Amino acid sequence: MALLSVRGLEKHFGGVTAIAGLDFDVEQGAIFSIIGPNGAGKTTLFNLLTSIYTPSAGTVIFDGHDLTRLKPFQIAALGVTRTFQNLQVFLNMTVLENVMVGCHLRSRCGMIEAAFRLPSVIREEKKVRGMALEALEFCGMADMAERAADTLPYGMLKKLEIARALAARPRMLLMDEPAAGLNDTETVNMSSLIREISASGVTVLLVEHNMGLVMKVSHRVLVLNYGELLSQGTPQEVQCDPKVITAYLGQ
Ligand SMILES: Nc1ncnc2c1ncn2[C@@H]1O[C@H](COP(=O)(O)OP(=O)(O)O)[C@@H](O)[C@H]1O
Ligand SMILES: [Mg+2]
Repeated sequence: MALLSVRGLEKHFGGVTAIAGLDFDVEQGAIFSIIGPNGAGKTTLFNLLTSIYTPSAGTVIFDGHDLTRLKPFQIAALGVTRTFQNLQVFLNMTVLENVMVGCHLRSRCGMIEAAFRLPSVIREEKKVRGMALEALEFCGMADMAERAADTLPYGMLKKLEIARALAARPRMLLMDEPAAGLNDTETVNMSSLIREISASGVTVLLVEHNMGLVMKVSHRVLVLNYGELLSQGTPQEVQCDPKVITAYLGQ
């Protein structure tokens, strides 16, 4: 059985159809990429999968739960986390603090306990710090933990977002254009990181424009065009699909 099943998914914004009746499955452990021209609906799809948007129709079943009925924090607690196309980093906080934000959905302390700094709170904070440090280490950024986020180069900020999404120990990670704006070396580095995330047992949904990266790391590729599924298959199958070639060359 698939880890994620999308059926009949639609999203309309006034007269604009951003997602037009989409069906697909993602197998556990896959690196599953979604490609397509600008405006194809890729970011909208991620926003639907994480309940930032409510679908106009359809269902999103993750491990037996219908995500369309849940709030974003409940989806994160089920093990689905994400990064954003436009960086969402708190520049006035340290790298470690930014990553700790990602762990608090797993934290169980209430407000009263926190206000009085009870031993349970101190223990909890230590645990959250540990989880955040572990995620930073995984991303090769442990030595930057105490730096102010606004001193990091852009490529590191992209990795910081990934570390934050990993700190919550997700089962599925959604990455929206992780290689956008990166130089060649940083892009190669990002490919390795995506493979390591997958090898650690996390299912990866990847939206990315860098075709070299997509074709190298993906197990499966779905091509979106005007909110519709244009093609789906292995990287090899998709690259040879005449419909895909026409859509890309036709731009
Ligand atoms: N919040 C919104 N309000 C109105 N239209 C939107 C909104 N978000 C996305 N769209 C429209 O939906 C379409 C798909 O956009 P998007 O999902 O951002 O595409 P992609 O990520 O593939 O470039 C575009 O036509 C875009 O203008
Ligand atoms: Mg987008």
